[in-house]
Amino acid sequence: MTGVTGALGGRVAARLAAAGHAPIRLLVRDASRAPRVPDAEIVEHPGGYSDGRGLVAALQGVHTLYLVSAAEAEDRLQQHVTAVDAAAAAGVQRIVYTSFVGARPDAVFTLVRQHWATEQRIAGTGIRHTFLRHNMYADFVPFFATPEDGRAVIAAPAGKGRTGFVSRDDLADVAVAVLLRDDDELDGQALDVTGPEALTMAEAAAVLTEVTGRPVEYRDQTVEEAWATRRPSGHPDWEIEGWVTSYLAIAAGELATVTDVVPRLTGHPALTVAEHLRRHPEDWAHLRS
Ligand SMILES: NC(=O)c1ccc[n+]([C@@H]2O[C@H](COP(=O)([O-])OP(=O)(O)OC[C@H]3O[C@@H](n4cnc5c(N)ncnc54)[C@H](OP(=O)(O)O)[C@@H]3O)[C@@H](O)[C@H]2O)c1
Repeated sequence: MTGVTGALGGRVAARLAAAGHAPIRLLVRDASRAPRVPDAEIVEHPGGYSDGRGLVAALQGVHTLYLVSAAEAEDRLQQHVTAVDAAAAAGVQRIVYTSFVGARPDAVFTLVRQHWATEQRIAGTGIRHTFLRHNMYADFVPFFATPEDGRAVIAAPAGKGRTGFVSRDDLADVAVAVLLRDDDELDGQALDVTGPEALTMAEAAAVLTEVTGRPVEYRDQTVEEAWATRRPSGHPDWEIEGWVTSYLAIAAGELATVTDVVPRLTGHPALTVAEHLRRHPEDWAHLRS
């Protein structure tokens, strides 16, 4: 498993260990930050996905690789290509990759095009694979909102588009189900993993208001306004383009997907945004008055 020092991979590692079916190897860039997972083998590879040679060594003897997509980076696709090629060179037999809904070469959300290209690379290796195309995290909804004198505002060019926000808790449960169900039925599949409903940003703001008790409003922006309000962050253009186009993808309906993958594979209903937020008050601590 990769990505285990992160919010998603950490959940998957803990749940997989609790399920207790398979020996687990955790690949980490810094062993001191590895999660404490009973009986898991920790392998440090400081170079991460960019270090193909290190990864080939770290992946020796691995049957199934849970490959968590890398942090946003200008060269993220190249990092993924290096990691996939390393998996092939190491003899990995199955890859479960965390992709994104609507993965297409011409996706409006620019960063999603990298997921599509990564999927293509994996498929091209001939390794058995399943793509878990995640919708936008429900966990992120509070972080779209900027506190503003006693209230908070989500300002974005998402229009009236809908998003099937999904909790990382559910994504982890699905990952564990897929990793443990090592049968042909999941091979070659791209599963859209979503929440149980698709909300507009105005509806997401209303849910935030209801759960946090702080009034949150959605303010629609033009593309120009979206860039102008994000430029002062000092982040590079490719990254701001990723943020802005994520909202434009919502406006275009590319994230409106809602599927039954969570209940079908885990046996429990998917969390709504409100249920996720009530379970994780730490996600909206910054919105407390
Ligand atoms: N669906 C969505 O809404 C959404 C939103 C944001 C991100 N994502 C994608 O989903 C991934 C997992 O989400 P998350 O919430 O768990 O993110 P997270 O908490 O930031 O964790 C990312 C994990 O990936 C590892 N990682 C990142 N870049 C790497 C690289 N170049 N080489 C090796 N390991 C690398 C990190 O390792 P270190 O601890 O060593 O940095 C960390 O363990 C993200 O990395 C991103 O690609 C999806």
